[in-house]
Amino acid sequence: MLEIFRTMLLDKTLAAPLYLQLYEAVKNLIDEGTLVAHSRLPSIRGLAALLNVNQITVVSAFKRLEHEGYVYSKPGSGTYISNTLSLKGMTDSGGGNIILDELYQQDDLPFLTSGQVTLNENTINFASATPTSDLFPIDNFKVVLNDILDRDKGNAFSYQDIRGFLPLRECISQMMQKGNIKSNSENIQIISGAQQGIDIISKALLNQGDYVITESPTYTGAIAVFKSRGAEICDVEINKDGPDLNVLEYNLKKYNCKLIYTIPSFQNPTGHSYSNLKRRELLKLAERYNAYVIEDDYVSDLDFDNRGFVSLKSEDKSNRVIFIKSFSKIFMPGLRLGFMIVPSDIHGNILEAKHTSDISTSGLIQRAFDLYIRTGFWDKHFSFMYDIYRERYFKTVEALDSCICDGVTYFKPGGGLNIWLDMPYGFPVGSLFKLSSSNDIVFAPGRIFYSNNLPQRLNNIRLSFASAYTEQIRPGIEKLCSIISSLQQRQDSHRNMPIL
Ligand SMILES: Cc1ncc(COP(=O)(O)O)c(C=O)c1O
Repeated sequence: MLEIFRTMLLDKTLAAPLYLQLYEAVKNLIDEGTLVAHSRLPSIRGLAALLNVNQITVVSAFKRLEHEGYVYSKPGSGTYISNTLSLKGMTDSGGGNIILDELYQQDDLPFLTSGQVTLNENTINFASATPTSDLFPIDNFKVVLNDILDRDKGNAFSYQDIRGFLPLRECISQMMQKGNIKSNSENIQIISGAQQGIDIISKALLNQGDYVITESPTYTGAIAVFKSRGAEICDVEINKDGPDLNVLEYNLKKYNCKLIYTIPSFQNPTGHSYSNLKRRELLKLAERYNAYVIEDDYVSDLDFDNRGFVSLKSEDKSNRVIFIKSFSKIFMPGLRLGFMIVPSDIHGNILEAKHTSDISTSGLIQRAFDLYIRTGFWDKHFSFMYDIYRERYFKTVEALDSCICDGVTYFKPGGGLNIWLDMPYGFPVGSLFKLSSSNDIVFAPGRIFYSNNLPQRLNNIRLSFASAYTEQIRPGIEKLCSIISSLQQRQDSHRNMPIL
């Protein structure tokens, strides 16, 4: 390990104090993956002698690194590199569009203040779980918009019913019958996107200090909402067939949780889906402990392996499930449109919360979408998007199957938009992010999907294929795999270096 520091130059003539220079130099070594997680730093005395500085200089630098989470100390043993993903300065920000929708919602990462990730025309985007704008059905939407303007005139621009445009609610209620979900125009609530749905449910049901159960990892936008309400998040690890219900029940009991936030089908970010058995057991628990369950259905219909999961709402005999549907992944996210099916006993509170948020969702957009469905455009567009995503899913899985490196595992969800990769223990995901972005490949680092309790093994990445064009997928995955291999080789060679 001392070898790595031998070439480090601290300059006494600079205005920056020596301890800051040392701190910066070590931080850079961590960022670039030269110092790997859980390796031991040289002793204070050894490093001070090597760099010809006072021991206090080294202590101060180590203290600062520790304070910022780059290193941790073990009493009597030494100072070790943390398993952090320092992403600071990972790309330039020379203009262009900032992407990574969900990364925006992460205050944990320095994306907003430093090196935001920018896309150029060569970037292969495995980071955004969102359709690209070339897939948006602009022509047909233009047709319905014009028809609405001719038909409804100024009415399209007046305040709407808080619950939403009645014909649209009726239309949605009909659509829901296909999935065996019973609803009617009274319990459907139109929302300005699923994100708003999560927000107004939280406003309506949660007080400061209340506990919410979430899966771990989970959708970053939901974490941000619950935190903004001052709620405590009680996260339960998600497995391939859903969360461990014994742990979930323990938390329900211990923390008297009022709300359980779930993404039961093709979960974001892991792609895991609850087994039908777990779905039914979860509903029993919600009833027993008097909790509401949010069923966030952002992509259940992208079921490429015909796994045929039942929705929680269709099995909800005791009216505990608040079903939320987003149209963003199939349609156009910028429309800000979705809906909820709300249990009658809380609909009053939800209406109040919706009213305080934005009074009602845009009347023009609701009317246009209603006509879009009734004209048959929606069904055609859904089939179009399904085929595109299906092709991208199988291309991604095929490419991963043929070139994934040793020690990297991943889960085939059979649907949805995301694939969750598990890197070997101690793998420098931050360095991978940095190197891949500079090679025009972006993905979402796993750590952004955790609330507070970061797991010991923080080594996942999420690859989304929604925004990656079919012809980019294989070259993108091949390049990513070769960067992973080169980082693994670098790690191995550092591990084999004698500790002086
Ligand atoms: C699980 C999940 N829920 C909700 C949303 C937000 O959807 P909307 O655009 O409808 O607000 C997203 C967006 O990525 C998501 O992944």
